[in-house]
Amino acid sequence: MHNLGIAITGSGSAVPATSLHNQRLTELVETSDDWIATRTGICQRRLALPSESLSVLATAASNQAIASAGIKPEDLDLILLATSTPDDLFGSACQVQAKLGAIKAVAFDLTAACSGFVFGLVTAAQYIRAGVYQNVLLIGADILSRWVDWQDRRTCVLFGDGAGAVVLQASKSDRLLGFALKSDGTQNHYLNLGYTGSSQELLSGINVTKGAYQPITMNGKEVYRFAVQKVPEIIDKALFQANLTVDQIDWLLLHQANQRILDAVAQRLNIPEDKVISNLAQYGNTSAASIPLALDEAVRQGKIKPNHIVATSGFGAGLTWGAAIFQWGR
Ligand code: ACO
Repeated sequence: MHNLGIAITGSGSAVPATSLHNQRLTELVETSDDWIATRTGICQRRLALPSESLSVLATAASNQAIASAGIKPEDLDLILLATSTPDDLFGSACQVQAKLGAIKAVAFDLTAACSGFVFGLVTAAQYIRAGVYQNVLLIGADILSRWVDWQDRRTCVLFGDGAGAVVLQASKSDRLLGFALKSDGTQNHYLNLGYTGSSQELLSGINVTKGAYQPITMNGKEVYRFAVQKVPEIIDKALFQANLTVDQIDWLLLHQANQRILDAVAQRLNIPEDKVISNLAQYGNTSAASIPLALDEAVRQGKIKPNHIVATSGFGAGLTWGAAIFQWGR
């Protein structure tokens, strides 16, 4: 008889060593430390060197998560890598599987931009609830610095690189208390990292496309408006599913996009500031990595303790958004 509940039993994270302070961005674009800090809450971000790969960062975070869950890589049944910036467009999860020595695990990538971690959490949970897999490694990792237009001050000040990971295990008691996911492709044009190609004649009468992915473009105002409206709604929905009220939440753990979004969402939900987890100042927006990176830090700092109830929400390109309510630990 399988245990069909889900427990999140370990976490880990890894960031590149190189940090870039706001002040140094003034050498690239017309901006200021003050503008960036007051509009976003970001002071610095980490940047991956050309020699640092996504799979290496993801593996470092994963090794910590596996160790803190008290299991071994060969115990893993499934590895999900939430990323929009794989080293290889065919996917990087298998490279992580090889680096970990997770010989039994099936591994694949999942793309949902900054919602990737929450979408991955729910995806992993379905495999466990169905009794198919018992030990799942979920990684959120991104190197958006590869895709930032460093001449575009509206975007280049926002993003940083990093990786975070959690282990989900089958458990008698179900600690994933509620979730909700949403997508709206009609707003896709607000945030893109699109492919542009031109037509090339391959053979007479047959043309193919040759091109490349283009740097991130974003309508910041629209994304801001979307986040502040949709995130409280979806957290409410997940809480309703969990049969919980807002005051029962110990921590609000949002995708770290902008401190003003964190503040506005907390205010709309009536969640006091001291329950809001934020590490934006140090890392900026690390896309799919931001939630597991902040989660791991909060666990290691002793803020998030076993049995605490965490409300998490990811939102971003797609547009996609989602929320999950879980109780930390076994
Ligand atoms: N430095 C100085 N001035 C700037 C900068 C900068 N880095 N960037 C923009 N400005 C200027 C603008 O040009 C504008 O000047 P103007 O009035 O002369 O035209 C002025 O500052 C105000 O610009 P706004 O766009 O109105 O600034 P706003 O207060 O909206 O802040 C921001 C912009 C920070 C991008 C905000 O809109 C935001 O956070 N949006 C959400 C973005 C987000 O979360 N994206 C990630 C989603 S996750 C994912 O999927 C990757």
